[in-house]
Amino acid sequence: MWWENAVIYQVYMRSFQDSDGDGVGDLPGLLERLEHIAMLGAGAVWLSPIYRSPNFDFGYDVSDFGTVHPDFGTSADLDALILRAHELGLRVLLDFVPCHTSIEHPWFREHPEYYVWADEIPNNWRAAFGGPAWELDADTGRYYLSSFFPEQADLDWHNPRLRAVMTDALRKWVKRGIDGFRLDALDRISKDAELRDEPPAGGPPPLPLDPTDAELEHLYSRNAPGVDVPLRAIREAVGGALLIGEVFLPAADLGPYLEWLDVCFSFETMFAAGDAAALTRAITTGLTHGATGWVLSNHDFDRLATRAGPGNGRAAALLLLSLPGPAFVYQGDELGMANAPPAAASRDRHGRDQLRMPMRWDESENAGFTTGTPWLSTAEPEVPSASEQDGDPSSTLALVRGAVKLRASLDGPVAVESRAPGTVVVTRGNHVIAVNLSAGPQAGPPAEGLELEANPGDGHDLSVIPAHGGWVARRPA
Ligand code: BGC
Ligand code: MG
Repeated sequence: MWWENAVIYQVYMRSFQDSDGDGVGDLPGLLERLEHIAMLGAGAVWLSPIYRSPNFDFGYDVSDFGTVHPDFGTSADLDALILRAHELGLRVLLDFVPCHTSIEHPWFREHPEYYVWADEIPNNWRAAFGGPAWELDADTGRYYLSSFFPEQADLDWHNPRLRAVMTDALRKWVKRGIDGFRLDALDRISKDAELRDEPPAGGPPPLPLDPTDAELEHLYSRNAPGVDVPLRAIREAVGGALLIGEVFLPAADLGPYLEWLDVCFSFETMFAAGDAAALTRAITTGLTHGATGWVLSNHDFDRLATRAGPGNGRAAALLLLSLPGPAFVYQGDELGMANAPPAAASRDRHGRDQLRMPMRWDESENAGFTTGTPWLSTAEPEVPSASEQDGDPSSTLALVRGAVKLRASLDGPVAVESRAPGTVVVTRGNHVIAVNLSAGPQAGPPAEGLELEANPGDGHDLSVIPAHGGWVARRPA
């Protein structure tokens, strides 16, 4: 399968490249920059939602699954993008948001039966961004289920009509030439039909949750039995297109989803951050369960360069890009972008602006992102721009390109261990990848013949893994 070892590049369109000076990235802008993505060696580009949306959750609140948001361009712009991407050998993946729509979607009024309603607040379910998961609809005096922002209403996949309209939307995109989908918040696709109360939490949640959400054990509001019916419908609609699940669950619980999907993100690896022992455990778990996608960063959580701890961004990127299975690079990871300082004016109510700053393309005003006023400030003084990094063999961009190239030659049996403190060592056939996320040098595994170093000079003496560094080398015969 083309995606099995692919690097998939996530484009957060609003912040990638503006072409018309309105300060918002768009499809023609992305078209201009596609070669940057192809030159990384990526196999696909995944577009965060590009549908019409009132932007209460910047596209994750969809008001029409079949239309391109006018901020991003036209339907013809999308066709041009798909065509050019395919010429460059890049597949195009959309972000599909199956579990809720915007309350401005016409369905919310015209087809209330597609949603989950109650006359009174029926249970103690909580929203992912805090507070109760039920919102009063002033027009009807009834409550609708809303698992994220109040402007997002949960869809009811128990309803066959809803399944038909959603899968119809997917079919149309596949016909347009879309090669696959990242399916948003999929652990919410199946909920208890009886809307039973969640019991109190028996312990800390396996993945971090909003504190109010973490007070409950989530048996009914998400990940309820019965994911088969919706996921089978989705799979049948898209045929062999790639399906990537954003399922916010530990790897051990992904089985029922992976019966229908190709890949799920490893959130455990993401949240292991710069803790080498936790990383080793999470990577091992991901490899054991299989079909794991390794995420450098995304638009929701701390960027890799921040998460991995000071100085560790490059070593962590080298590690994640050297694992078997698809790897997801979020725009700006290849430049080493860390979380940005807080924006002057906040846009996202859940505090995610710092992960969504516009790309730094060059040294001109607004970093080449826009000739207008950027929707989010481009201030990010610490990261050299793409044009400064291009051609500099010591840059993060050169490292990421090198790691993506090297991936193709990594194969054979894989094992992961953390022997010396702060280190993660992965053996893959006759290669060994060694990284050290601690502040002091550590003993390295047996190695010879350096292939790639995280920082210039890291591979000088392969008997050690330098502090905040690492390398890929051949294993002695
Ligand atoms: C997306 C978020 C979004 C949420 C609700 C997530 O998992 O990645 O950006 O806010 O789903 O759609
Ligand atoms: Mg624009």
